[in-house]
Amino acid sequence: MRIGITNLKGGVGKTTLTQNLAVCFAHMGYKTCIVDTDKNQNSVSWSGARDESLPEILVVGVTDPKAVNKTVDKLHKDNEIVLIDGTPSLSEMTTRIILASDILLIPILPSAHDVRSMGQFFERYEQALEFRDSIPAYFFVNQFSEKYIIHRSIRDMLKQFEIGIMKSTFKDRVSYLETAVEGMGVYEYSDKKAKAEAVKMTQEVLKLAKKEGLIE
Ligand SMILES: Nc1ncnc2c1ncn2[C@@H]1O[C@H](COP(=O)(O)OP(=O)(O)OP(=O)(O)O)[C@@H](O)[C@H]1O
Ligand SMILES: [Mg+2]
Repeated sequence: MRIGITNLKGGVGKTTLTQNLAVCFAHMGYKTCIVDTDKNQNSVSWSGARDESLPEILVVGVTDPKAVNKTVDKLHKDNEIVLIDGTPSLSEMTTRIILASDILLIPILPSAHDVRSMGQFFERYEQALEFRDSIPAYFFVNQFSEKYIIHRSIRDMLKQFEIGIMKSTFKDRVSYLETAVEGMGVYEYSDKKAKAEAVKMTQEVLKLAKKEGLIE
């Protein structure tokens, strides 16, 4: 399964979600790799910091949009899960990622400003739909806090886009920052709440993939 993680906005949690899903999938026994399409190559650096005793996750950097599809397809032959870590720029790359994915996850921060900026992303999404019948896509709310009314109201705001919204969220946790520099996911860390959150997220992705007929 090819999972694209994309949003035109920077700093919304694309890389955090990619790495944490990759780690959970790898621990569940899925052969997993990441295609890093961001110029900053954060996931490539993350893999450099990753301890060899941890389950292996190959990370391949691709910054030429024209090479995305080929690379993803090639890796998909040897890997059960290919995660594509997206770029924040309004570029051809985003359309290419959308087209190379079986399912899209769109991280978003719970602010009205971030919801408004989704318009540009959907221009790319609709452009991609001219080439393919349907591309399942789901929002994922990152840095969510139940105690803020504005955060709780985000789900209603997102309904206007007529794509799914994942039930699982990530809270604002320092463990995401601490693990990122160590080449780890929160699944491999001491923060049990973060680990439970990441497992729940991964299970929901599998459930959605099943619903979309992507896996058995
Ligand atoms: N749930 C979270 N709790 C705490 N920190 C987080 C969380 N999610 C992301 N972060 C931190 O916020 C910053 C931005 O996250 P991340 O790099 O995943 O976003 P991005 O969308 O990949 O950004 P870019 O567009 O620059 O690639 C990082 O420092 C990351 O560690
Ligand atoms: Mg990133």
